[in-house]
Amino acid sequence: MQKYDLFNGKVNNLLHGADYNPDQWLHRPDILEKDIELMKKANCNVMSLGIFSWSTLEPEEGQFQFEWLDQIINNLYQNGINVILATPSGARPDWLAAKYPEVLRVNADRSKNLFGERHNHCYTSPVYREKIKIINRKLAERYGNHPAVIMWHVSNEYGGDCHCELCQQDFRKWLQNKYGSLENLNRSWWSSFWSHTYTDWQNIESPAPQGMQSVHGLALDWKRFSSDQTIEFYKNEIEPLREISPEIPITTNFMYKYIGLNYWKFAQEVDVISWDSYPSWHSDYETDINRAVDSAFMHDMFRSLKDGKPFLLMESTPSKTNWQSVAKLKRPGMHKLSSLQAIAHGSDSVQYFQWRKSRGGVEKFHGSVVDHVGNENTRVFKDVSELGAELQKITSITGTSVKAEVAVVFDQENRWAINEASGPRQEKKDYLKTCLSHYKNFWQQGISVDIINQEKDFSKYKLVIAPMLYLLKEDTAARLKKFVKNGGTVVSTYWTGIVNENDLCFLGGFPGPLRDLFAIWSEELDALYDQDSNQIVIKDNSELKTGQEYEAKTFCDLIQLEGAEVLAEYKSDFYAGRPALTVNDYGKGKAYYIASRNEEQFLKDFYYSLVSKLNLSKTIVSQLPEGVTAQKRSDKNYDYIFLMNFSQDEKKVDLTEELMEFVSGNVIKDSIILEKYEVKILKK
Ligand code: GAL
Repeated sequence: MQKYDLFNGKVNNLLHGADYNPDQWLHRPDILEKDIELMKKANCNVMSLGIFSWSTLEPEEGQFQFEWLDQIINNLYQNGINVILATPSGARPDWLAAKYPEVLRVNADRSKNLFGERHNHCYTSPVYREKIKIINRKLAERYGNHPAVIMWHVSNEYGGDCHCELCQQDFRKWLQNKYGSLENLNRSWWSSFWSHTYTDWQNIESPAPQGMQSVHGLALDWKRFSSDQTIEFYKNEIEPLREISPEIPITTNFMYKYIGLNYWKFAQEVDVISWDSYPSWHSDYETDINRAVDSAFMHDMFRSLKDGKPFLLMESTPSKTNWQSVAKLKRPGMHKLSSLQAIAHGSDSVQYFQWRKSRGGVEKFHGSVVDHVGNENTRVFKDVSELGAELQKITSITGTSVKAEVAVVFDQENRWAINEASGPRQEKKDYLKTCLSHYKNFWQQGISVDIINQEKDFSKYKLVIAPMLYLLKEDTAARLKKFVKNGGTVVSTYWTGIVNENDLCFLGGFPGPLRDLFAIWSEELDALYDQDSNQIVIKDNSELKTGQEYEAKTFCDLIQLEGAEVLAEYKSDFYAGRPALTVNDYGKGKAYYIASRNEEQFLKDFYYSLVSKLNLSKTIVSQLPEGVTAQKRSDKNYDYIFLMNFSQDEKKVDLTEELMEFVSGNVIKDSIILEKYEVKILKK
């Protein structure tokens, strides 16, 4: 498999480092000096600088101060530490907000924010765009050729939307561009409902709690517009960087489960994907195993955004956060395990927020590599430096990737539409959770999975799983059918193929354009109360165990057969005996339709059977014990296998072939023991 080069040959090892905010410590040269000494002890080779430094870089309008940054960057470089240099648009100086109030954000209820916080700016404001471009140009001119600078970190966690008049005007232009005429817009939005027909472009306003909330096409388009506007803002930011330092790759840090942006679209504009991961380990509401599945899913998604190119774990906490409901410390072993989990799924870095704990401000209790005590004699520091040492030993993994035969479709526009939909239940529609429940079975079997949106190419997979694909684009339907026709297998569920991309219901029977693929049609969807349940019973002609029953809750789709074979039926209620699980032969492939939301065991049994039927390749051939996964990165010579135990117990993994322990070179036969939270890296 291909090896990637994220940094244009400038760096060829795994990165280990942190967000570094020396601008908070300029009055303490002793601390800045100590930082360098400690960074070396922590085995760090990179620091992300300047993320929120605008007020230090430009304390007055047009007055720039770079000398402090020169010193910091030079010093880092002389000590073998690279720099990921940020543009500072994530937060603004007070003079900017005071002189140009248009830069501050307006909320959906049309209230205007005051100066304060961060990420509090309008993405349209010409003034903000101009000011950030000026400072970005200065940064590029000064540091674009500095040998320490290996990457641009543009802004920080772009997110949120702004409803000011400037944004409204651009929204209207965006709509005119998309629809051409009001007639077309009104038809696409079904706006004659409740007399919402628009007669003038100027009358269109973004959704508001005191205004429009019921035109779903409008709501969807507002989300699309806000996402596009953020990407436009980003493109404005990077113009001078590209012009002056075309060799330096660009990233911007994405967020966990973030719903506000279409990351698949954004990904096309960045060179390297990076993201910030803060799982709540050891919580009382989720097991570490499920938490690990959730993190794995996100890592896989961020890797899939650029079709397998390694990403960067830009932020993670070395110990705890300050914003989760309870700031529980990572238990011994978890730091290494969760960090190497990122590497296992395709990250080429482990980076933290932050290097040194702030003395004041809202994040002064957030975990960091260096605590307020200011030295290396802490448990966290030791964990970090040990991990850094380990990363140096496994550096040949850099640039390798993951090959997946399975893809789970988790589509952002679909997510928007599902959230927006009124019915069939207001709560527990749980799109992401449903995708995770399918994904988990592959994680548990040590099978690599890509997480893609509905626009990605399906042809490279053997199995595509598209749960609850409520918003279905015509083109997706055509490509899915082609995929199956050519021999692929697709699995989908209830609430698929309900609306088109404008959120208009398909006429002529659900699942709309996929009706012939599954050879069923969905007549009614029964939404159940929390205490309700039904059962599905496996029929005798399927690969599952005949007569086996599984509980069905929340959603039961009442489907009619149009040629599909029935693998399970409902057991009770007025639809007892009607199909609950079907399969249809379509061309050379098969299309499975799971009509109800079933208990976990169902998906486990279903996918165990499908995996063996499709002969999907597993990282470790034998069955993995509960809570243990095996993930793999490869290049053309080697497979690097990460065995990870997220359970609280010691686990034994049986091997069917000899493998080599990567760091020690020891050969392992027969089996391998993993202690609680242990990770082992093997080479094949
Ligand atoms: C991130 C953010 C960092 C820091 C961190 C704390 O979302 O980018 O600046 O605030 O959270 O966990």
